[in-house]
Amino acid sequence: MPEKNGGYSKVASSSSAQTSSLQKMHGVWSSRWTFILAATGSAVGLGNIWKFPYIAGENGGGAFVLVYLVCIAMIGIPVMCAEVLIGRRGRMSPINSMRFVTEEAGLHGAWTAIGWGGVVAGLMIMAFYSVVAGWALHHVIETASGAFTGIDGAGAGAKFGEFLGNTKSLIAWHTVFSVITFTVVAAGVTKGLSVVARVLMPFLFVALAVLLVYAIVKGDIAQGFAFLFDFKFDKLTGKGVLVALGHAFFTLSLGMGAIMAYGAYMPAHANVAGTVVTIGILDTLVALVAGLAIFPIVFASPGLQPSAGPGLMFVSLPVAFGNMPLGIVFGTLFFVLVVVAAWSSAVSLIEPGVAWVTEKGKFNRTIATGILTFIAWLGGLLCIYSNNWSGDKEGHFFVFEGLDFLTAQLMLPLGGMFIAIFVGWFMNKKILASEMDAEGHPLFDIWLFLIRYVSPALVALVMVFTLYITFAEPSDDLDFRALMFGLKVVSGGLSIVIGLQLWKLRKAKAQA
Ligand code: PHE
Repeated sequence: MPEKNGGYSKVASSSSAQTSSLQKMHGVWSSRWTFILAATGSAVGLGNIWKFPYIAGENGGGAFVLVYLVCIAMIGIPVMCAEVLIGRRGRMSPINSMRFVTEEAGLHGAWTAIGWGGVVAGLMIMAFYSVVAGWALHHVIETASGAFTGIDGAGAGAKFGEFLGNTKSLIAWHTVFSVITFTVVAAGVTKGLSVVARVLMPFLFVALAVLLVYAIVKGDIAQGFAFLFDFKFDKLTGKGVLVALGHAFFTLSLGMGAIMAYGAYMPAHANVAGTVVTIGILDTLVALVAGLAIFPIVFASPGLQPSAGPGLMFVSLPVAFGNMPLGIVFGTLFFVLVVVAAWSSAVSLIEPGVAWVTEKGKFNRTIATGILTFIAWLGGLLCIYSNNWSGDKEGHFFVFEGLDFLTAQLMLPLGGMFIAIFVGWFMNKKILASEMDAEGHPLFDIWLFLIRYVSPALVALVMVFTLYITFAEPSDDLDFRALMFGLKVVSGGLSIVIGLQLWKLRKAKAQA
């Protein structure tokens, strides 16, 4: 049988001078650790500190957290390896890296849609991300000025509601955040970001630990802990499963090319699997500690609800800081760090697009960054104005919620699923093993199995499930019916795939 994937020799001969000059264009991280810090900077962000606690709260806590952890381990980490691998193999923007590996595998150019979809998803996420990061910036000033001193749950809730009704202020903070993101991306992430990540990430960990201690001493830690870790399945809804799956992608920055773009700047001989597992563990720890810091405070404060929604962090933490010794100092420091965490994530949201525009050669990096930041900024304005269209000042953002749903729950999981299918089924196994530096290692086979079968099947299952509950007649056992339907569709699909594989194998054997 002819070698479909070409392998190294074909690559070397077919890579044009133009490709190789593009591959040298963006620079390389100075070491494996810089890559870890930068990728952790991308992963750890508002998703961990703001989003995880509130979606866990909205979806009943424990069982949701368990599904989320399973998704991180079974889907997130394997897909992250796949993304790093494609990036490092292609060494260009996600669009061009996808084109490179697609050509290398002799496949149809449609696969580059993974790169395109990622650029669009990144801008869509950046639109609402930057608005929320603006809220955090606003909280830096509020906390520092002592506005929260002595405040209670009801007071903090009212104050935040008032802020959300103030369009001018929302736009101003959103703009400040867009500008600081622009600055780092324009400077080039391999230069700009590493210093930020190296110095400030460790501070974030310390600040979270301080908050955790406060929550243990002053909050209701037992109830907070039970809320997050009592895996009660009756609380788990179909929607909760979808949200957990989507969040696993969101929190690890997967499915849209951010990690692929960073992987493109990775030194050639850094160990992929170890690096990715480190990033996954750090990211998960930050989310869990954030939850353990926030919920005890929520439970100990009358007027606060775990299911408060997007305002949860912006309301519960001011109560904590407003009532703790040195709260002004710790509170200010904390929100500064939230901004920094958001900042280092936002950079990776527009990097894939910027890298691609720069490679086109028409604009320099600064202008490319300006264009993409501006598009995302406009999206942010839509988010802000949609709050006022709804006439509901309590933080109901149509566009905001729509973008969040479309990206986190559809585009990222689907992007991740196609990345897994591409790497698992279409890339040359020899190339994979050598890029992973794992020839003959048993973990390599486990990884391959996960990205071939488990990750795509689980994402497909959740997608079918969601489609079913969206269109079926509601009833008591809707979730169960949807699950059964999803299982049938996905196991049918898997049987066809496995059948075809066996058939191909037999044919190949017969020919040999
Ligand atoms: N991972 C980031 C967070 O948790 C968000 C993000 C998603 C960044 C996708 C880049 C790409 O906040």
